[in-house]
Amino acid sequence: MKFYGDIIGLVGKTPLVKVNNLTKQNKIKAQVFAKMESLNPGYSVKDRIGVSMIDWAEKEGVLKKGGTIIEATSGNTGIGLALVAAVRGYRCVFVLTEKASVEKVRYLKGLGADIVICPAAAKPGTPDHYVATAKRISEETPNSFYPDQYNHPENPAAHYRTTGPEIWEDTEGEITHFVASIGTGGTISGTGRYLKEMNPNIKVIGADPYGSIFKTYKESGHVPEATPYLVEGIGQNLPVGNADLNTIDEIINITDRESFDLARQLGRREGIFCGGSTGTIFAAALKVAKDLDESGVVVFIVCDTGEHYLSKFHSDEWMKEKLLLEPQRITAGLIAETKNSGAPGELIFVTPDELVSAAIAKMNETGVTQLPVLEDNRSVGSLRESHILAKLIANRDLLNSKVSDVMDDSFPVLEMDSNFTEIKSKLRKHPAVLIEDFKRITGIITRSDVLDLQK
Ligand SMILES: Cc1ncc(COP(=O)(O)O)c(C=O)c1O
Repeated sequence: MKFYGDIIGLVGKTPLVKVNNLTKQNKIKAQVFAKMESLNPGYSVKDRIGVSMIDWAEKEGVLKKGGTIIEATSGNTGIGLALVAAVRGYRCVFVLTEKASVEKVRYLKGLGADIVICPAAAKPGTPDHYVATAKRISEETPNSFYPDQYNHPENPAAHYRTTGPEIWEDTEGEITHFVASIGTGGTISGTGRYLKEMNPNIKVIGADPYGSIFKTYKESGHVPEATPYLVEGIGQNLPVGNADLNTIDEIINITDRESFDLARQLGRREGIFCGGSTGTIFAAALKVAKDLDESGVVVFIVCDTGEHYLSKFHSDEWMKEKLLLEPQRITAGLIAETKNSGAPGELIFVTPDELVSAAIAKMNETGVTQLPVLEDNRSVGSLRESHILAKLIANRDLLNSKVSDVMDDSFPVLEMDSNFTEIKSKLRKHPAVLIEDFKRITGIITRSDVLDLQK
């Protein structure tokens, strides 16, 4: 029979996958390979350290039968630890920040872990910070093991022993550039150290979100004030023990916009469905690869799967809310469904037979300055507050007339999948556009809804 004795046997030995369409599009001559850490059983690079840190704790007698593992994690290390804990019968308590996606939290609970959530804004060193909280819980819990992935030598050691040799062997020693992010620093420090020992000419490149300290810290020795960013699991606001910046030749800063855009492109153009930190890393890998000739062999880490972020940057609605969605994906339907003004799905309109006085009352009640006139779910005209008021000044009796007597032409009607450029061009000439779905008017987009998107 051919089988693994347990799920832990599946950790590591991840393949390299060549990137084709996106390198061609970017006119890259070098070969660029994705190291598919998302194919680990917990779908991230962190499974490796879940195994190595628990193996260490068992060997050292720190973790005994029935013990509890307590760790501060952005989610993935928790998953790696929880897999091992499930197989070997330990309890887990993980401390995350509010930034962690709901998918990761549910995943951890699905693996049997208990979860504590801390404020994302808590400063390092303060009692509410997620690392301080994990430390406190571990001190208060008997027979517990606090791995401390930020400082535990078995974090970079796991990558030195496994990730580095796998990349070296799979590229047959041809690798010229290794690109990874820096969260705890374990991946880049351990893998980078191994590769440099094999060939000191290999360049190790760190990808760091704008807002994180690593680039400035490496280049100047000064720790700048960190600012918030949206990519999960990478970057820091203080130096960490496992981030050995001497192993790293260069650190490249990447924006959230570029990270999410490239992570989404890896899915759409290469079928590599990944998390945001992979987008950060791939953005840096492309920048590095652009300057190389055919002899360049660039390997970058696919840290985790996109499935952890279905409610985050893999959601068009979330991207739109964060003002990060690519203009070509901002459709009329998406704007109408997710706009801030008016409840979604609740289109305010009048019929041609209603009285003008009722239409004005509706405008006052709802605070809108224009109304579509609909009959049997089709648009037959429009009312604009300024036009009606001008007409009423001339003739007050119009208050008792029907809407059909005073209405203007209909607002333009667009299909749900009309793009942002079409919508903007219509809104230059008209105060609003209507959205049609299966021949029924289902929504309205006004100029202010579009301004909201361009803040
Ligand atoms: C999604 C994600 N990407 C990348 C990393 C960075 O890996 P490392 O901690 O080895 O630097 C992490 C680490 O937590 C992560 O969760």
